Amino acid sequence: MGDRLGTVGDMDLTESTIGRWSGRRVLVTGAAGLLGRAVTEVVLQRGGSVLGLDIAWTDANRIDAPGVVEIAGDIRDRDLLDRLHRDERPDTLIHLAAQTLVGPAVEDPIETFSTNVEGSWTVLEACRAAGTVERIVVASSDKAYGDAGGRPYRETTPLRPAHPYDASKAMTDLLGRTYAQTYGLPIAISRCANLYGGGDLNWSRIVPGTIRSVLEGEAPVIRSDGTFVRDYLYVRDAATAMLVLAQAVGRRPAVRGEAYNFAAGQRLSALEMAERILAVMGSALRPRILAISRNEVPVQRVDASRARHELGWRAQVRLRTGLARTVDWYRTYFGAAAS
Ligand SMILES: NC(=O)c1ccc[n+]([C@@H]2O[C@H](COP(=O)([O-])OP(=O)(O)OC[C@H]3O[C@@H](n4cnc5c(N)ncnc54)[C@H](O)[C@@H]3O)[C@@H](O)[C@H]2O)c1
Repeated sequence: MGDRLGTVGDMDLTESTIGRWSGRRVLVTGAAGLLGRAVTEVVLQRGGSVLGLDIAWTDANRIDAPGVVEIAGDIRDRDLLDRLHRDERPDTLIHLAAQTLVGPAVEDPIETFSTNVEGSWTVLEACRAAGTVERIVVASSDKAYGDAGGRPYRETTPLRPAHPYDASKAMTDLLGRTYAQTYGLPIAISRCANLYGGGDLNWSRIVPGTIRSVLEGEAPVIRSDGTFVRDYLYVRDAATAMLVLAQAVGRRPAVRGEAYNFAAGQRLSALEMAERILAVMGSALRPRILAISRNEVPVQRVDASRARHELGWRAQVRLRTGLARTVDWYRTYFGAAAS
């Protein structure tokens, strides 16, 4: 066992599990997003540097820290990717960029397929051509499994998605596996449960949407009928998972082309989640149920035992703590936005 790391809240992770990131140059696609910002923070705290590629950097999501270069661009831009590899020589890639919203994916499936599928093959082709990246994580999702009748997803569960976003993630997943197996790239695939945490500016998602409504004094809305169950994972835990998986695939050939679930075993319906947030915020408001969401899997449960046993990863942050930190983040964000 290596040294215990107590500095950034990853208390149970050993140096050999998460690796030494000092001096590493990490290309993070989708760096302006919820998970991208959290991954960037963890890499920086561990002494690495980040090339953050995103199509939508704005004043609201800028990271603006030493060690980060924000690159505005599209993952479908092969020339840009080739230039990045040639000029910046990243040794690690965490590929997160995607069109991640379920509603817009139903409205405009082509844009979602183009971003998530063509974007992923372009990113992986650029890595294949460069031949210099030592560890690659491709973000798939628990959504790639589709409807398993409420049974917990295991990595052996077949991928049977039936809606555009879910199918696009299954395709991303298979591209990662293909580039690992056919071309020998050091790629592992992550399948995270539903993420929540500060920094999520996608207001149609239940956690940021509910918190913003409460801070504005309005009843939060639930787009589904409130019964859809999701497994919730704090974004910091997911960010750590990306580093642990990258470290493992760089070291262990057996991890190449393999997929790992990441979850905390915190399963709630949409209504229960809204009520938890209202309780954390001390609000007497009641959620309004719109029941307009279609094309979503009713129950998603994620079994993360493979990641625990094979990678030594496990979630650290309980829902109550994660929600309290999340609410604090938005209070600061809106306080700052209002001032
Ligand atoms: N949020 C979740 O609950 C969840 C769960 C499991 C898996 N994932 C996966 O994790 C990854 C990150 O998710 P997130 O929640 O941070 O999403 P997000 O929407 O917050 O971030 C995605 C980022 O990708 C960027 N992007 C979109 N199209 C792009 C393009 N063509 N070129 C460059 N950048 C582009 C967006 O601007 C955004 O900043 C995604 O691949 C997602 O499918 C997310």
